[in-house]
Amino acid sequence: MSKLIFLGPPGVGKGTIARKVDEVISSPPVSTGELFREAMANKTELGLKIKGYMDSGSLVPDEITINLLKEKIHGMSSFILDGFPRTIPQAEALDKEVSVDKVISFDAPDEMIIKRLSGRRTCRNCDATFHIDFLPPKVENVCDECGGELYQREDQKPDAIKQRLVVYKEQTEPLVNYYKEKGLLETVDASGTNVENIFKDALAKIRGE
Ligand code: AP5
Repeated sequence: MSKLIFLGPPGVGKGTIARKVDEVISSPPVSTGELFREAMANKTELGLKIKGYMDSGSLVPDEITINLLKEKIHGMSSFILDGFPRTIPQAEALDKEVSVDKVISFDAPDEMIIKRLSGRRTCRNCDATFHIDFLPPKVENVCDECGGELYQREDQKPDAIKQRLVVYKEQTEPLVNYYKEKGLLETVDASGTNVENIFKDALAKIRGE
C-alpha cells in the first residue's frame, strides 16, 4: 500500500506513468484535472464555476481544489496523486490529512513538454491518453482501452500551454524543494520517448531499489 504524489510540469507524462504503476502496485491514480474535466462534461455547478480557469490554463482556486481532493481520498489506503498538490497551501492542507510515502518528480525540458501536449489525444469516455506520434492509438481517433472517441483538450492550444508552463514554474515548482526538505523526493528523468523505461525507473524509485 502506497500513498504517492507525482509532481511535474503539464504534459511530462504523470498520468501515463500513474496508470502503468497502478497496474503493478494497485495504487489508483487520483487526478484533480480529470475530476475537474468530469465536472465540466457533466455541467455540474462545480464544472461551470471552474471552466474559465481550466480552459485558459490557470489554476482553479485552492479552496475548491482542496475540498474536492479531500472528499475524493477520504478512506483510501493507497493512491497516486497526479496533479495535486500544485501550490504550497495545497501541500500544507494535504499534510494535515495524510502522511505521504514518496513524491516522484518527473523532469523534461519545455520543448519536449510542448510537443507532448500539442500531440496529445484524450478519450472522452475513460480519459486514457495517447499521442499522435509517440503513443498512437491502434485505430486513429479511437481509444484502445474502451473504444471511445479521442479528442484534443481545450487547454492544449498554444496560448494555454504557454500559460500552464508559466503557472507551473511560479506556483508548483517550489513544491520540489518543499518535499526535498521533508526527505520524500525522488527524481525521474522523463525527457526520453520510451515510456517503458520511464515507467521502470519510476517503479524502482517507488520501491526504493
Ligand atoms: P491536469 O489534467 O492535471 O493537467 P496537467 O498537470 O497539466 O497534466 P497533464 O494531464 O496535461 O499531463 P501529464 O503529465 O499527466 O501527461 P500525460 O501522461 O497526459 O490539469 C488540467 C487543469 O486542471 C490545470 O491547468 C488547472 O486548471 C486544473 N487543475 C488540476 N489540478 C489542479 C490543482 N491541484 N490546483 C489547481 N488547479 C488544478 O502525457 C502527455 C502526452 O505525452 C500524452 O499524449 C502522452 O501519450 C504523451 N507521453 C507521455 N509520456 C511520454 C513519453 N515518455 N514520450 C513521449 N510521449 C509521451
